[in-house]
Amino acid sequence: MKNTVSTFKMQKENKDKITMLTAYDYSTANLIDEAGVNGILVGDSLGMVMLGYEDTLSVTMEDMIHHIKAVTRGAKNALVVGDMPFMSYQTSVYDAVKNAGRLVQEGHCQAVKLEGGESVCPQIKAIVEASIPVMAHIGLTPQSVNAFGGFKVQGKSEEAAKRILQEAKAVEKAGAFAVVLECIPDKLAKIITEEINIPTIGIGAGSDCDGQILVYQDMLGMFGGFKPKFVKRFANVGEEMTKAFKDYIEETKAKTFPAKEHCFKIDDSVIEKLY
Ligand code: KIV
Ligand code: NA
Repeated sequence: MKNTVSTFKMQKENKDKITMLTAYDYSTANLIDEAGVNGILVGDSLGMVMLGYEDTLSVTMEDMIHHIKAVTRGAKNALVVGDMPFMSYQTSVYDAVKNAGRLVQEGHCQAVKLEGGESVCPQIKAIVEASIPVMAHIGLTPQSVNAFGGFKVQGKSEEAAKRILQEAKAVEKAGAFAVVLECIPDKLAKIITEEINIPTIGIGAGSDCDGQILVYQDMLGMFGGFKPKFVKRFANVGEEMTKAFKDYIEETKAKTFPAKEHCFKIDDSVIEKLY
């Protein structure tokens, strides 16, 4: 059955954990969907894991639409959330509604996500009024990496913790259907989860959130570089891939690949005519 924003709401009420993963292409979305996750986020993390940028700031609306299209074709049951890229909603409420609309109309996702608290509440409200469900995202918001001075845990001081709690309440009031809590202390995430009525989706925010999300390359061990503390490697797919690539090279050089069973036959009488 297709997951919707109502499914998410019900799961919070029933204390049934919401599971989400990212995906950026058709075949991975298909595998993740068949495994049975509730939601797939086409994150702007694609800038880093798919396109090789240092951060998410270079990702464009065209990049997002291209990948969202592929994922929505592969996801039958998961709710697909399209991430709004840097500068597609910060500039004005008008831009926010227009660009959220493009993600839905051209990418065919069922909801959008954007980063920020009080400062983007007018955008959240306007997008929701246009009948597009919005997932908020607070704590470590990677599009603000330059303002933060790096990717760091947020909300550790009393002042910062209070501000994040306040932001969670603000995005709920603005109409968000869920909120991502990224890289904040687990005890703060627990309080936020109790204090608001919309589901909290944690990444680096402990097990008391209403749901979890991970970048699939991180959890599969496919992203070589930096491994944040909150990532658990559920498999070492990267190692498996490297091994397969090396086997292919070796077998090709040894001429054990392709073998007879990979070849197409032709009648000898035809071959004779070619000499
Ligand atoms: O872009 C992304 O993948 C995200 C998740 C990590 C929440 O925003
Ligand atoms: Na993102």
